Amino acid sequence: MTTELRRTRMVGLGGFVPERVVKNDDLKQWMDTSDQWIQERTGIRERRWVDWDKKIGSSDLAVEASKRALSDAGMVPKDIQMVIFATLSPDHLFPGTGVFLQRKLGIPVGAAVLDIRQQCTGFIYGTSIADQFIKTGMYDRILVIGAEVHSTGLDLSTRGRDVSVIFGDGAGAAIYAPAVDDVSYIISSHLHADGNSAEDLWTEYPSSKEMPQLDPAEVAEGKTRHFPQMKGRQVFKHAVPRMAESVFEALARNGVPLADLKMLIPHQANLRINEYVQKQILGLPDDRVYNNIQRYGNTTAASIPLALYDCRREGKVQKGDLVCLAAFGAGFTWGSVLMKL
Ligand SMILES: CC(C)(COP(=O)(O)OP(=O)(O)OC[C@H]1O[C@@H](n2cnc3c(N)ncnc32)[C@H](O)[C@@H]1OP(=O)(O)O)[C@@H](O)C(=O)NCCC(=O)NCCS
Repeated sequence: MTTELRRTRMVGLGGFVPERVVKNDDLKQWMDTSDQWIQERTGIRERRWVDWDKKIGSSDLAVEASKRALSDAGMVPKDIQMVIFATLSPDHLFPGTGVFLQRKLGIPVGAAVLDIRQQCTGFIYGTSIADQFIKTGMYDRILVIGAEVHSTGLDLSTRGRDVSVIFGDGAGAAIYAPAVDDVSYIISSHLHADGNSAEDLWTEYPSSKEMPQLDPAEVAEGKTRHFPQMKGRQVFKHAVPRMAESVFEALARNGVPLADLKMLIPHQANLRINEYVQKQILGLPDDRVYNNIQRYGNTTAASIPLALYDCRREGKVQKGDLVCLAAFGAGFTWGSVLMKL
């Protein structure tokens, strides 16, 4: 006897970015940089950063994105049975940010709340985890969130400019439920990692390996281990083939030709990475790859749901369209989700 597993569909989607717009030229108040350098290397024109005086955390941005996803799904917070929260910029070291969202949003006490990291691939991993829980019948309504407040943790001096010009704050949320037809459902998800390059994109400190105090002498010398550090060229070199592989893997596993793909929603790390994958490897026209990094910078775990949210709002994808989500990020981690929206 074979048991048919259920399938999962996305029933709600929401995105949120803070109001404060930081243009490339605005960054010059902290560091030596230029609009031309940033646009040429990354495609970014501006990003949204939280108002630093207001003590806004990832959970606060997540609340707003989740409200929009709930409204899109025609649901209220008490409908949610499980939260999967992806962030590399948690409100606090522990507990995970998911419980703060649970409390602020009014998700019932007793619901399951799971925090994951996985950085830029966080939403892909989160979606895949939700898919497994729904397929097996354990839950019927799962909220998956990617949310980041990067701006409070960046080295804004010239020393940190290669990293700090790239990152933006934001949140994206999706609600998953059992599929009811063949029009709208997750087809497959594909998750990967390679810890050999973990230090190519990381924040080393604070670390449980050392007593948690910053040495002022180290900071004065520029050893800023508490800020993100990136070997940009290494990241670029790995990101391009891994993103492309992720798309090919999803299509090949399901015997779907690239021509059938309505829209690729790549992680928004760098417009140059996405354009290279689109033009040099996949050969897709501009209207089948969606980018919004120009407006938001790299919002890490939030970038894919935010991009899908904007893409759908602009009418470029609709229910039932074949969409591939693909990401690469710190870890390194990478992966994809193929779905009928
Ligand atoms: C970060 C990145 C844009 C840097 O571009 P690059 O061509 O590799 O540039 P380099 O780091 O070699 O630096 C080139 C020069 O620009 C300078 N520079 C770096 N950041 C700068 C900035 N924000 N403004 C102006 N100049 C800058 C460097 O100091 C260097 O100057 P030098 O030649 O005088 O030494 C690029 O490596 C990249 O996009 N990598 C992938 C990053 C990514 O996607 N990260 C997220 C993954 S999830």
